[in-house]
Amino acid sequence: MEQRVLLVGPPGAGKGTQATFLCQWLEVPAVSTGAIFRAHAAAGDELGKLADSYTSRGELVPDEVTNRMVDARLDEADVQGGFLLDGYPRNVDQVYALDELLGKRGLALDAVVLLEADDDEVVGRLLGRAAEQGRKDDTEEVIRHRIELYHETTQPLIDIYTERGLVVRVNGMGSVEEVAERVRSELATFLEAKGAQS
Ligand code: AP5
Repeated sequence: MEQRVLLVGPPGAGKGTQATFLCQWLEVPAVSTGAIFRAHAAAGDELGKLADSYTSRGELVPDEVTNRMVDARLDEADVQGGFLLDGYPRNVDQVYALDELLGKRGLALDAVVLLEADDDEVVGRLLGRAAEQGRKDDTEEVIRHRIELYHETTQPLIDIYTERGLVVRVNGMGSVEEVAERVRSELATFLEAKGAQS
């Protein structure tokens, strides 16, 4: 069955890591706004330069740029049978922008997976990644800013999706495999219950 799912959580909660498992299970592609921005930055194109001037400071790329990019991505062939959105929406205005993008295509979300992990754990994970990969926004100062921005700007959207009955909360602490198993079983239970109601 076609599934349209969001993956939300603080920086370093394991969204990208878990997206890989979840996409295999749901048989849908991942659409990660962060990964798209990094690909453009690596290519050195105009969008990449613009995005990099925000992402490297841990700031959000302006909504009109991000919304337009997601709009175009949702027209591509591979996402017509469903998708996993990772990192978008990231603020309340983007929630309403996504509503429009889906609405004009006659689509709706099936679930919002909220991956939770505490601040000390995510800082540790991201500093570990910094040592391995050297991602530009993984300095301690920028990591702390990204976490702050998550609490201020991204967390409020959880209330909106909770009111819509879409949120599946998953504990993101523990090994990658333990979390993957939790995500899968909790999302499966949620989607089954939703299917039974409709
Ligand atoms: P984005 O790429 O979305 O970054 P993020 O939300 O900060 O998330 P991360 O990629 O840092 O972490 P993750 O949760 O995916 O964890 P991961 O699996 O990688 O966005 C980057 C930037 O782009 C934003 O700051 C913003 O500037 C811009 N942007 C993106 N979307 C935007 C939007 N919608 N609007 C405006 N701007 C936007 O794991 C992290 C590390 O932990 C890895 O090393 C991994 O191996 C390790 N790890 C994972 N799981 C575990 C585990 N269970 N145990 C131990 N280690 C683990």
